[in-house]
Amino acid sequence: MLLLLFFASPVLGALVSEPPPPTPRSPAAPVLAWLPVRLNHFDASNNDTFQMRYYYNDEFTRTNNIVIVLGGPWTISPDWASGGLPHQLAEEIGAGLFYTEQRYYGQSRPTGGTSVPELRYLTVDQALGDLAQFIQHVQSDQFQGGRFRGGQVALAGCAHAGSLATWMRLAYPHLVSAAFSDSGPLLAHDELAEYLEVVWEAVRAQGGGACVATLDLALERLFAETLTQEGANRVSNMFNTCSPIEGTNPLDTSTFFWRGVLEPLAHLVQSATTGDIAGACEVLTDPNVSEPTERLAKWVTSQLWAQPCLQASYTAHLAAHTNTSYDAPHSVDRLWMYQSCVEFGWHQTTASFNSFHNAVALPYFRALCRQYFTEDFDETLQWAGIERTNLLFGGVTYMPDAVVSVVGGHDPWWPVGPNATHATHMSPVYVVSGGSQCRVIRSTGESETQQVEVVKRAVLLNMQQLLSGKPPTHVSSAAVVCSPLAIILIIASLTFVL
Ligand SMILES: *[C@@H]1O[C@H](CO)[C@@H](O)[C@H](O)[C@H]1NC(C)=O
Repeated sequence: MLLLLFFASPVLGALVSEPPPPTPRSPAAPVLAWLPVRLNHFDASNNDTFQMRYYYNDEFTRTNNIVIVLGGPWTISPDWASGGLPHQLAEEIGAGLFYTEQRYYGQSRPTGGTSVPELRYLTVDQALGDLAQFIQHVQSDQFQGGRFRGGQVALAGCAHAGSLATWMRLAYPHLVSAAFSDSGPLLAHDELAEYLEVVWEAVRAQGGGACVATLDLALERLFAETLTQEGANRVSNMFNTCSPIEGTNPLDTSTFFWRGVLEPLAHLVQSATTGDIAGACEVLTDPNVSEPTERLAKWVTSQLWAQPCLQASYTAHLAAHTNTSYDAPHSVDRLWMYQSCVEFGWHQTTASFNSFHNAVALPYFRALCRQYFTEDFDETLQWAGIERTNLLFGGVTYMPDAVVSVVGGHDPWWPVGPNATHATHMSPVYVVSGGSQCRVIRSTGESETQQVEVVKRAVLLNMQQLLSGKPPTHVSSAAVVCSPLAIILIIASLTFVL
C-alpha cells in the first residue's frame, strides 16, 4: 500500500520524481551526510541555518577534483552516487563524487511545514546559494583536511536539476568549472501548450497514426459525455474514479482530463524507453474493443498509480494538496506547484488541441495556484515571477560557457530548453532524436540506441576537455546519427585526453 501511495503521489508530467535508478557500477556504498547551510543566502543579518542532505562516494578519489550530481524536486537516493554517467566521469578523472538534495525536497527541510509563509525560501536562487555554500565547504580545510582544496568542480543534473547545473555555472562561474545538463528546461513560460504537442508527436512517431486517432476520437467523445451528469457518470464508471465526476463542475472535469488523461500520457512519453509507447498503443488500438473511450479507459485504469481508483475530484485533489505537512503524500507536488506558480509557469494546457476542447486550460491552473496557496497567487504574481526568473537567468538567450547540454527530441519539455541553435563554441548542445527525458545521464554500455551511446561518450569527452581547460570537441549530429566510426573516433579522443 505504501508503495502504491508512492507511485500515486507525483504529478506525473512534472519533474518531481528522481530519475529511475541507474545500474549500480560498483559495490561501494555512498555515505549519507548533512551540511548546515544558510536559510537565506541574501540577508547577511539572518544567520538561521538548516540541514542539507547529501551522499558522498570517495571510491575514486585520487585528485582534488569533485563531481556533484544535483538533486532536483525529489528525495535523493544513494543510487545516483553509485551509478550513471557522473559516476563514470568521477572514475575517469579520479574525483570525489557527491549527490546533493534540493532544499525543501526529501529530508532537506528548512522549515517546520509548507504553509505559504514557510515557503518563502523555496526559490531557485536560494537553492543555488545552498550549492555555492556546499562547494565552498567541500573545498575548504573543514572537509576531510582540505583534500579537495583548489580542485576542479563538475556538476551534472537532469530535468530540473539540469537547469540548476546550467544556472550554477551562470551564477557562480568561479565555483563551477563545467556543467552537464540533461533535459533541463531554461525558459520560464506561462502556458506550455507545446508540451502536449510533443506528446502527440511522439505517440504518432512511436505508436502510429491509429493510436493518435484513437486518442483524438476518445477525447471528443469523453468531452461530449462530461457535458451531462448522466454522461459524466458513465465516464466515472469506465475510468473507475474514486468518486463520481460532477459533470456540471468545470473544475471537476478539468481535474479528470488532467489527472486521468493528460498526465498519464505525459508520463508515458516523458519517461519512455524503447517500446513503451508502442506497448501502450497496442492497448489503445486493440481491435477487440470497438469503442475508443473504452480502449483509453482500459489503458488508464491498468496503470499502477490509478489503483485502487482514479482521483478525479477537484475537492479531494485540493484537500490533498493543501496539507502543509512535509510528510503528506502530495507534499512534493505542492512544493513543485509553488515553484511553478511563483517562478516558472510551465502549465501544461490543452490549448493546442481541438479534441480536448481546451478542457485543461490556463484558468484551471490559475485556480490551482490561488487555491493551493492564497488569493495573492494570481496572474499578476505569476507574470512577475516568470519575468524575474528569465531576468535572473536569461532564459535561452544566453548560454553560459562550459555547459554541455542534451535535449531529447521527444521530451515534452524541449520547447523550453536549449536546442542546436543555442550551442556555442564553448557550450555544445546535443539533440537526441526521438529521445525522452534523462536518458543520457545514465551509464554508457547500456544505451537504447546507438545515438544515445554516442552522445553519452561525447558528454564524457567534453566534460573532461572543459575540466582541463580545453574547448569541447563538438561531435556533429551527422556523426552522431551515423555509425560505429563516430564511436571509435570518440573513444580514440577520450583515450587521448586521459
Ligand atoms: C496531513 O498529512 C499528514 C501526514 O501524512 C497527516 O498525518 C495529517 O493527518 C494530514 N492532515 C490533514 C488535515 O489531513
